[in-house]
Amino acid sequence: MKAILKRVGIALGVVIGLPVFVLLVLYGMGQARLSKTYEISAEIVTIPNDAESLLEGKRIFQYRGCEACHGEKLQGLIYLDNPAIGRVITPNLTTGQGGIGAQRTDEDLVRAIKHGIRTDGTPLLFMPSTEFYFLSGTDLGKVLAYIRSIPPVDNETPPSSLSFTGFVVMNIVKDITFIPAELIPHNDSPPIAPVRGVTAQYGEYLSMSCKVCHGLTLSGGKIPGFPAEWSAAPNLTSGKGGRLPQWGEAGFMEIIRNGEKHGRRINSSYMPWKSYRHMTDDELRAVYMYLMSLPPRDFGRR
Ligand code: HEC
Ligand code: HEC
Repeated sequence: MKAILKRVGIALGVVIGLPVFVLLVLYGMGQARLSKTYEISAEIVTIPNDAESLLEGKRIFQYRGCEACHGEKLQGLIYLDNPAIGRVITPNLTTGQGGIGAQRTDEDLVRAIKHGIRTDGTPLLFMPSTEFYFLSGTDLGKVLAYIRSIPPVDNETPPSSLSFTGFVVMNIVKDITFIPAELIPHNDSPPIAPVRGVTAQYGEYLSMSCKVCHGLTLSGGKIPGFPAEWSAAPNLTSGKGGRLPQWGEAGFMEIIRNGEKHGRRINSSYMPWKSYRHMTDDELRAVYMYLMSLPPRDFGRR
């Protein structure tokens, strides 16, 4: 009898103990990834101060999606609030109360934007620096000029934090990039941005964020790691299911500017056209040229 009880006891211990052990290990792995420090040599960016560059900086801040995540006054917003993952808050970038503007050097900002790294060398959560690593020094300089010109806004924001399950999920769900800094080749020589112009090459430079949702080949499909109720991303190539060749350049510009074309409306909470509409006609032309230069792919062959 005793022997049986002992065996049941061991079995129970394994059944309950093993998962707890695995969870604790995964939690520890998550903690280690977030407290790792990255050594990144500071890049020097020239910051212009003429009115035209400031306006350009604002526009870049808008069409690169910074404003959508950081707020119209750069005051900071709740990016994610989900007990299963945690609370991630974009910081107040101004010099007002609770803002980090006054405490950060230009090099700190460059490291945060291009490398996704905090001042203490640890990685930022969800800040999509993989898209900004390629930014030209000129564009980045204008963005910094704009950030520095913003009037102070008082907004105290608590630091971002992950929940216990967030640390665990981070290690098992590969489709969600919790720590963009892990994907950036920090110590390679910085990429050289193409010259501005209505070219497919410059269009590609402007389209870095599109691939997150439309896929690396831009052929669309279900967006991995995003909520199930989201629409699939459409095919942006001229392959099967792609609407852009029929719409043409003018139609493409229309849907990006107004979110609507031929009665087809696109949802701005899924497709950030309200950010992209700040691109100039020439920039949108370059993006269209790039999309039409891609090898045609059938829908969803990401
Ligand atoms: C998808 C949303 C998103 C976009 C787009 C985005 N950010 Fe962020 N950003 C974040 C989050 C979230 C954090 C804070 C992460 C944390 O607390 O760990 C952050 C942090 C930062 C920081 C770090 C501040 C510090 O603590 O030192 C700076 C600077 C910054 N972002 C600037 C920008 C700029 C400039 C752009 C556009 C080029 C941009 N962000 C685009 C989400 C975003
Ligand atoms: C956060 C995800 C996301 C990003 C980033 C994104 N898209 Fe989209 N896009 C979508 C989704 C989802 C739809 C479909 C929306 C709907 O049906 O309401 C869509 C629709 C479109 C459409 C309409 C096409 C059609 O056939 O209906 C175009 C054009 C488009 N996106 C272009 C772009 C371009 C260009 C970029 C980058 C500059 C981009 N998207 C970035 C998710 C995204």
